[in-house]
Amino acid sequence: MSAKNVLSLLSLSKRFGTTLANDQVTLDLKRGEILALLGENGAGKTTLMNMLFGHYLPDEGSILISNAEDKMVPLTPGHPQAALAAGIGMVHQHFTLAENLTALENITLGSEPLWALGTNKVKVREKIEKIIKRSGLKVDLNVAVGRLSVGEKQRVEILKALYRDAKILVLDEPTAVLTPQEADLLFKNIQAMTLDGLSVIFISHKLREVLEFSHRIVVLRNGKKVGEILTCDADEKIIANMMVGEDAKVLKRTKLKVGQSLLSLSAITLKGNSLRNSLSDISLVVHEHEVLGVAGVSGNGQSVLAELISGLSFPNLGEIKIGSNRIDKPSPMAMISAGIGRIPEDRHRDGIVGSMTVAENAILESLNDPRVQRFGFLRQEAMTDYAEKLCEAYDVRGPGVRFPARLLSGGNIQKLILARVFEKLPSLILANQPTRGLDLGAASDVERRLLDARNRGAGVILISEDLDEILRLSDRIMVMYSGELKEVSSRNREEIGMLMAGKNK
Ligand SMILES: Nc1ncnc2c1ncn2[C@@H]1O[C@H](COP(=O)(O)OP(=O)(O)OP(=O)(O)O)[C@@H](O)[C@H]1O
Ligand SMILES: [Mg+2]
Repeated sequence: MSAKNVLSLLSLSKRFGTTLANDQVTLDLKRGEILALLGENGAGKTTLMNMLFGHYLPDEGSILISNAEDKMVPLTPGHPQAALAAGIGMVHQHFTLAENLTALENITLGSEPLWALGTNKVKVREKIEKIIKRSGLKVDLNVAVGRLSVGEKQRVEILKALYRDAKILVLDEPTAVLTPQEADLLFKNIQAMTLDGLSVIFISHKLREVLEFSHRIVVLRNGKKVGEILTCDADEKIIANMMVGEDAKVLKRTKLKVGQSLLSLSAITLKGNSLRNSLSDISLVVHEHEVLGVAGVSGNGQSVLAELISGLSFPNLGEIKIGSNRIDKPSPMAMISAGIGRIPEDRHRDGIVGSMTVAENAILESLNDPRVQRFGFLRQEAMTDYAEKLCEAYDVRGPGVRFPARLLSGGNIQKLILARVFEKLPSLILANQPTRGLDLGAASDVERRLLDARNRGAGVILISEDLDEILRLSDRIMVMYSGELKEVSSRNREEIGMLMAGKNK
C-alpha cells in the first residue's frame, strides 16, 4: 500500500511503578489501513492506545498525526480533547455509554450541547443517518441504549466516534463480546469505511479475524514491539510464534464414560422482564466426566441460565436437582456448598473487587481456609504467600499481589478469577464465556484446565459464544435461542451457527 501516513507513534514508553508497560514502541498507520495490534495479556496494547488517546502521558516518545493539509504535526500528549480534535476516536474494552439515554443522544453526547439537540434535531439526525448509510452500522436511534444488544451498543460507540469526524478509529477488542456473525458484519462495515479514508487500529486475540480483515499486524510482547508483518505474508502459526515465541499446543479431548448426574434442570420456566431474561421450558443434565456446551448468541437467556444455576434467581416452574437432591430454595450459598464453582461472565461486576488487593481478591471465596485464616484472623503473610503461589501457578501477571486488582490488565483479571475457581476443585464448574479477552496461550490454558477438571470427574457447563471453543471442549452440545434450549447432535459449524441465529432450516 503506497498511501500516506496518518499517524506515527515514535518511541513511546510508559512505566507504572516497576512495570515497563510500553518500551519504546514505534509504529505507523497509513490512510485507509486496518492495522491489528496483537500480544499476550498484559503485553501493553491498551496502554499504548491510551497514550494515543491522551488518557496516559507518555514517559518518553512523541506522536505525530496528519492535519487538514496532510502535514504530520505533533499531537499534544496526555490530552484527550486534543486527540479528539485531531480526529482520533476510541472504542474502549468496556462500553462507556449512558444506558438511559437513546442511541441518538449517546452519539451526540459531548459534541452537541443538550439544548442544541432540541433545535438542531433534524440536522443532527440527518448527519447520523448519513453516517449510518455510509458505514452500514445500523441501529435504532430512538431506543434507550440499555435495551440494545451488545452488538448494537458497539455500533453506537463507533457511530459516536464517526460523528465526531474521527479519521483514525481505535477499537480495543471490539469483537470480544460479539458473535461470529456480528463480528464479520462489523469488519465488513469497517472495510467499507476505510474506502472513505478511515484508518483503523484494532486490538484482538482472535487470529481468524485478524488474518481475514487486517492489512498489517504489529505484535507486542512485554511492552516491546517484537514483530510486524503484512497480513498477506502471515498465517496463524507465524503470528502465534511472534506472540509467545513458541508453537501453540493442541488440545486433545479423549472420550470418557460419564458418571452420575451432578445437576439437572427439568422443564424450567422463568419469566423475566424481557425475552432475553426469560427461560421457556428448558431441561438439561450434566454428569461427572462431562462438558456440556451451551452455544448461542449472548442475550438469548444465557445470563438467566447462569444466574439460575448460581442460585441467584428462582424458576416459576420446573425442578432443579443437585445429584439426587431436589433444591427447593436455590441460593448462592446452597449452590456453592453443593460444590459449584462459578466463572462469571461480567468479571468486573461479579468477579473482582477492583479496590481490594490482588491477594485479598485471591482469597475472597476462601476466607475460612486454614491456609490463610486462624482463629478468625486473616494471616497477612500467609495470604500474600498463598496469593503469590496462585498467581504463579496460573500465570497472573501484574504489578504484584499487594496492589489493587484494578491495575491488572483485562486478561489477567480473568486469569485471577479462574485461578480462584480451579483451586477449589469444584465438582461442577459453571463457565460463562471463560476465555473472553484471553490471549491465545491463556485461552488454551483455560481450556486445558476445564478438560482436566472433567477428566478428574467434574462436570462442566460451558456457556460460550465461541463456537470453535464449544466444538473443541464439549461432549454434548445444546443451542440456546430466545430462552429455549435444544440439544443438537450435529458437529457442523454452519448448522449450529444457523440454529444460533434462530434459523431452523
Ligand atoms: N494504571 C496502571 N497502573 C499500574 N499498572 C498498570 C496500569 N495500567 C496497566 N498496567 C500494567 O501494564 C501492563 C500492560 O497492561 P495493558 O492493559 O496495556 O495490557 P494489554 O496488552 O491491553 O492486556 P489484555 O490483553 O489483557 O487487555 C500490565 O502488566 C498491567 O498490569
Ligand atoms: Mg487490554
